[in-house]
Amino acid sequence: AQPIRVALLGCGTVGTQIVRLLTEQADDLTARVGGGIELVGIAVRRPNKHRDVPAELLTTDAAALVTRPDVDVVVEVIGGIEPTRGWLLAALNAGKSVVTANKALLAEHAGELFDAAGRSGADLYFEASVAGAIPLLRPLRESLAGDRITRVMGIVNGTTNFILSAMDETGAGYSETLDEASRLGYAEADPTADVDGFDAASKAAILASLAFHTRVTAGDVHREGISAVTSADFAAARALGRTIKLLAICERVRDADGQESVAVRVHPAMIPRSHPLAGVNGAFNAVFVEAEAAGQLMFYGPGAGGAPTASAVLGDLVAVARNRVVGGRGPRESAYADLPVRPIAQA
Ligand code: HSE
Repeated sequence: AQPIRVALLGCGTVGTQIVRLLTEQADDLTARVGGGIELVGIAVRRPNKHRDVPAELLTTDAAALVTRPDVDVVVEVIGGIEPTRGWLLAALNAGKSVVTANKALLAEHAGELFDAAGRSGADLYFEASVAGAIPLLRPLRESLAGDRITRVMGIVNGTTNFILSAMDETGAGYSETLDEASRLGYAEADPTADVDGFDAASKAAILASLAFHTRVTAGDVHREGISAVTSADFAAARALGRTIKLLAICERVRDADGQESVAVRVHPAMIPRSHPLAGVNGAFNAVFVEAEAAGQLMFYGPGAGGAPTASAVLGDLVAVARNRVVGGRGPRESAYADLPVRPIAQA
């Protein structure tokens, strides 16, 4: 059979791990998919910086790569909203399946991408966009598709959880702990997206959209970061038998008139030390899901990092490749229940 031909956009921390796993596990993946997976091109900004991948695969022309007739699947780990949005739309419109880890893009433009996928019959998978290696979006989209989810709540940003865990442990202040996290490589050179809660808000928007079959964008999420959390706050929390975590909370809520809507928020919260989320420390993520029939579920694991994120991307790649081999399609997001999103001021 013809192999499934893959174009990769981006070859940074996650992309290099994807290339490594695709190469090392080629035989196993072929057996699992029922056909080979062949990497046919890698779009990067500076080809001379990527000496660890085959030079003949590298290109700077992502726009041309994503619509190449021989490409079946586009895997996107390059990040950014523009021009990435245009590349993924072009790929979906051309009937190519897309696997992406891009939470910022999905949190703004998931509706447009789902619609394009729906029209062309292509698959759009994005497990790596929320909580790294933790299988979370597939359970929400597929395993719990027959249930009614009422709440999704958890720690979805590793950088801020690392900082808050360290502040709790050492009693140190926010600024010095952030500096230490940067020095150890746990915080990015520009930590704004993490510490101000933008990254968690994007992930919350994706989780809420899937859990409640509606469309929530990052702008619908009430957002408060961790930069105002002090060592005195931790001392007060400790005196109450509590700790402080940055939580993403997505809930079905009911107004006084009985109208149901979705409320989504990200903010630091005091939680009892006996709560399972209180024991989630360092760069780990953990998410609770409550559903009417299933009850309470908890998902826990590494929420970031090259290899863990690549694991989630590869899982999606296997899924879309299997769908292609059998001529099937993954879950559709075109039929929405259209549950309204509660305005931020009331969240
Ligand atoms: N900056 C993110 C985090 C990376 O700290 O969780 C994973 O999305």
